[in-house]
Amino acid sequence: MVKDVWTIKRILEWTTEYFKRENIESPRLNAELLLAHILGKTRLQLYLEFDRPLSPEELTLFKKIIIKRSHRIPLSYLTGEQDFMGLRLKIDENVYIPRPETEILVEEALKTIRNIDFEEDKARGDFIIVDLGTGSGNIAIKLAVELEKSKIYAVDISSEAIGVARENVRRHNLSKRVTFLQGNLFIPLVDLGLEGKVDLVISNPPYVASEEMKSLPSEVLREPMIALEGGWDGLGIYRKIISQSPRFLRKKGFLALEIGHRQAKGIQDLILEQKELYSPQVISDYEGIERIIITKRI
Ligand SMILES: C[S@@+](CC[C@H](N)C(=O)[O-])C[C@H]1O[C@@H](n2cnc3c(N)ncnc32)[C@H](O)[C@@H]1O
Repeated sequence: MVKDVWTIKRILEWTTEYFKRENIESPRLNAELLLAHILGKTRLQLYLEFDRPLSPEELTLFKKIIIKRSHRIPLSYLTGEQDFMGLRLKIDENVYIPRPETEILVEEALKTIRNIDFEEDKARGDFIIVDLGTGSGNIAIKLAVELEKSKIYAVDISSEAIGVARENVRRHNLSKRVTFLQGNLFIPLVDLGLEGKVDLVISNPPYVASEEMKSLPSEVLREPMIALEGGWDGLGIYRKIISQSPRFLRKKGFLALEIGHRQAKGIQDLILEQKELYSPQVISDYEGIERIIITKRI
């Protein structure tokens, strides 16, 4: 009868095989994270309690969640959280799931802002940063944590996303330094008198071309459409951000954008068309894929 006991070890082995058959990427990791979530434990604790049997209630809950996973509901939507640059964030189906690529955007933005010549700029107050399309608030929160002297305006068109981001900011005790604005790109900033005052505009906008939406993996299609689709050629939101940024950036203020695969040339051209922006720098990720574009207000 011992065979019928579902211990942590046995259920993990069984689920790993099940996820393999279902073509779920990283099957063992998925099994561990979902079981840890159901049992309210860390992955390490699972290993320390390998022989602990699951109760019938725990088994039922676990069965439900692994079926959902096999239906391609993303792991982060099932566990309700995602780590981003060492921060634990609340996530639900109303927000785009933060990706590792975006860490490069934040790292490059931090390098850029830390290089600002403090001697030259001694009289300045806090850095003013605008995060366009904040989603779960990941970029805004990491920047606020790293830059103590900063005031961040986080904008999103989705009020549901703002709700999640606000909760994340509250959990990280940053509510005083991150202000949320619901609306279309720069529009909510107009009434705040921020024209010509912003040090950094940062964005990871939706950039999938309408045509390519249907070929996205079914898991990605579970994420909000508004977070993915960037118009017929994928550059719609970039056009708006690039043309409107000069109005809000201070002189020598930066614009840092994450870009999609093979979009660098198109976005560089949009920046070069803007007389008030310097010619941009393109930064590649560790695999040599062009990921980030940074430019500066003349
Ligand atoms: C790709 S997600 C990025 C989320 C997050 N910043 C990140 O990097 O993980 C794009 C976000 O832009 C928002 N968005 C789309 N169109 C927008 C618009 N016109 N104005 C403001 N936000 C917009 C979406 O709701 C979504 O949260």
